[in-house]
Amino acid sequence: MSLDAQRVKKDFPILETLAHGKRLVYLDSAATSQKPRAVIDRMVRFYEEENANVHRGIYELGEKATAAYEGAREASARFIGARSTRSIVFTKGTTESINLVRYTWARANVHEGDEVLVTEMEHHSNLIPWQLLCAETGATLRHLPIDDDGKLRIDLLGEYLTDRTKLVGMSLMSNVLGTINPVRTVADAAHAVGARILVDAAQAAPHLSFDVNDLDCDFLAFSAHKMCGPTGAGLLYGREDLLEEMPPFHGGGEMIREVWADHATWAEIPQKFEAGTPNIAQVVGMGAAIEYLEDLGMDAVREHEMQLTKYALDRIFSIGATIYGPMDVHDRGSVVSFNLEEVHPHDMATIVDQEGVCIRAGHHCAQPLMRKLGVPATARASFYIYNTEEDVDALIDALEKSKGWFI
Ligand code: ALA
Repeated sequence: MSLDAQRVKKDFPILETLAHGKRLVYLDSAATSQKPRAVIDRMVRFYEEENANVHRGIYELGEKATAAYEGAREASARFIGARSTRSIVFTKGTTESINLVRYTWARANVHEGDEVLVTEMEHHSNLIPWQLLCAETGATLRHLPIDDDGKLRIDLLGEYLTDRTKLVGMSLMSNVLGTINPVRTVADAAHAVGARILVDAAQAAPHLSFDVNDLDCDFLAFSAHKMCGPTGAGLLYGREDLLEEMPPFHGGGEMIREVWADHATWAEIPQKFEAGTPNIAQVVGMGAAIEYLEDLGMDAVREHEMQLTKYALDRIFSIGATIYGPMDVHDRGSVVSFNLEEVHPHDMATIVDQEGVCIRAGHHCAQPLMRKLGVPATARASFYIYNTEEDVDALIDALEKSKGWFI
């Protein structure tokens, strides 16, 4: 079934508002997506009818809250093909999920002389935790290069993966280049040298259908807020055997089995990693967002975005912009980073904003990648289920104006 973006747009109340008196054209979904009425209503209903703490109350209301929270875990497991809800740890987002692995699995398994491999296109959230880990342990951080098209140099994997590599951290889709990476190929190569692989799926989960078993990843992280859900919720998928052997992350209530004055034992996974009261309503909202996307169909989402991205690439290219990342929409998602020679990206974003068009400008939390591209910053338009060709046209018209300012 194909996706009708004009109809989908109507599900998002904010898209009926104005910006500077003009129609709001939201092209910054890679930073955070807008929220459909179904998600907003689900969170309101939780607070109006189901609000209590989870896993604690023996009363009916507490059971309703727990059922709503655990229902989101079932939806999350289904969405990524996880075989068990025990593999799904709720966090406040991708960054926290990656840091969870850094402080637990990695601290226990990465030592002086070992290596951690990331890629040259990682977001800071999948780079800084490994820099900190390596500084703490004396391990070495290596970076798999990208080529001129913004694709990973998979041909160099044999050189970069060694018997000292303990962990590979890579994104499934780049937040700057849009590149969709061959995770399974890297996972197979990583496993062949005894390394584990962690996948940053923050940009992929909103847009692509994938299955953690097909990817054969050990860990995978994403955030609700980029996929129609609220801020403050996300998850870490981990292979059950790894989660079981890992030490806890945060200490506190809910993550324990038994506590004595001077020591404690831990709850079963995933509760072992969910200390304290979680972001319950946000997790419930995440479950509703997943159901909303499932109703649209992730294949239809991808199909729509491929068509729209092709249109956007052609139109942005036609005004003389330099575009970063692969030009073939089979190799990329719906994030388009670009520069216009004569206009600074921040000026572009400011000028198009006057026309009601929201794009991001800057280093996109990927400064090493900017250095590799040889630019201090780019402009970035990112498209989602509610964007149409009319939105792309609005961007181009606004960009033409920004060019005019500097001629
Ligand atoms: N990671 C988000 C982005 O790329 C914030 O914009």
